[in-house]
Amino acid sequence: MQNFEFFNPVNIVFGQGQIKKLGQLVPTGTKIMLAYGGGSIFKNGVYDQVKSALPGLELTEFGGIEPNPRYETLMKAVEVVKNEKIGFILAVGGGSVLDGVKFIAAAALWTEGDPWNFLTNRKLVVTRAVPLGSVMTLPATGSEMNGNSVVTRLSTQEKLAFNADAVLPVFSILDPTVVFSLPEKQVANGIVDAFVHVMEQYLTYPVDSPIQDRFAESILVTLIEEGPKVLVNRNDYNAAANFMWAATMALNGLIGAGVPQDWATHTIGHELTAFHGIDHARTLAIVLPGIMQVKRVGKREKLLQFGERVWGVKSGSNDARIDEAILRTVAFFESFGIPTKLSAYNIGPDFIPVICNRFTNRGIKGIGEKGDLTIEQVSEVLTLQL
Ligand code: NZQ
Ligand code: ZN
Repeated sequence: MQNFEFFNPVNIVFGQGQIKKLGQLVPTGTKIMLAYGGGSIFKNGVYDQVKSALPGLELTEFGGIEPNPRYETLMKAVEVVKNEKIGFILAVGGGSVLDGVKFIAAAALWTEGDPWNFLTNRKLVVTRAVPLGSVMTLPATGSEMNGNSVVTRLSTQEKLAFNADAVLPVFSILDPTVVFSLPEKQVANGIVDAFVHVMEQYLTYPVDSPIQDRFAESILVTLIEEGPKVLVNRNDYNAAANFMWAATMALNGLIGAGVPQDWATHTIGHELTAFHGIDHARTLAIVLPGIMQVKRVGKREKLLQFGERVWGVKSGSNDARIDEAILRTVAFFESFGIPTKLSAYNIGPDFIPVICNRFTNRGIKGIGEKGDLTIEQVSEVLTLQL
């Protein structure tokens, strides 16, 4: 196992009825902003639960944070936070609302010019942010228990991420009953996103870390077993609870500690969203199978282990077993209506050089756990997935 530091102070408050505890969790004596998305929280009763958990508290509300939260919208919230001297932000929504709030919280205290710069320039580190907490309504991103935020800038068609301990939520309430109101598409997206988060931290090369491998495999198997139960019956509380916790565990830093990490699928996927607006998880379902194929030599040992331990593929030549592991993964995504080809979105080969040029212009020569997925191989991955 490699050396690591693992710091995760997020107070997770998990279970049915836990939104009631908000009153004990938010700070007193400071102005609070409640940030939300397009209005699902009004339809499923989450807004009412939040309000009744905070009786008598005057909240400044900021709604309209879009899926793939936009810099342009978030900057409006930054103004409100500054003007009203907000001292705490409560995010109520999915990953987009949480990520948006992390950006707002950091941008409001940023004094070195345009906050967009901390997304474009890796050398700029976010060290301060308005404290934030969350009521997470969509198991998928893990944003409720990590310091990541991904923001889209419409004017330049860019989608970029930053990471900072300063934006780790103080607390996150995870009430699995929020799953009951999720549309099928969002459940499917959530399963794939969490699955690929695990794969990005697992499907690399062995570093003799059996405990990390088995943590990762347990999450994958749980998603395979519990995900379909949630799709079939949205009111299955236990399945919803297991799905929700699996999604959180997939990207809270634990399984990635001490092991190499890939993230090439996400890096390429973000461009598919930036240029074509494809849902985040759906981009991953397209890219991952291509990466498994193109990197089948570099990832050989882990591909075989994945096939055997997650899909039960134990016989045949190594190549046949790897083929089977890829096929099973594709079939899993497609079993709940998530396409794995670009043609499903009417994207043809002309688009591939656009992505490759963007990476080249950013000075990127290679991505992945060894930095050896070259720009030519990015093209190969996307060509395989046409
Ligand atoms: O906006 P509202 O009206 O709330 O509706 C949302 C939205 O339309 C709806 N929704 C959320 N909870 C619901 C619900 N509808 C009914 N019932 C509920 N309980 O679902 C739609 C999608 O929401 P969104 O927040 O966009 O989805 P998700 O949680 O998948 O977040 C995606 C964003 O997170 C980023 C993605 O890039 C994307 O921008 N990611 C963040 C990560 C992180 N912070 O670590 C890691 C991920 O890899 C990912 O990149
Ligand atoms: Zn993701």
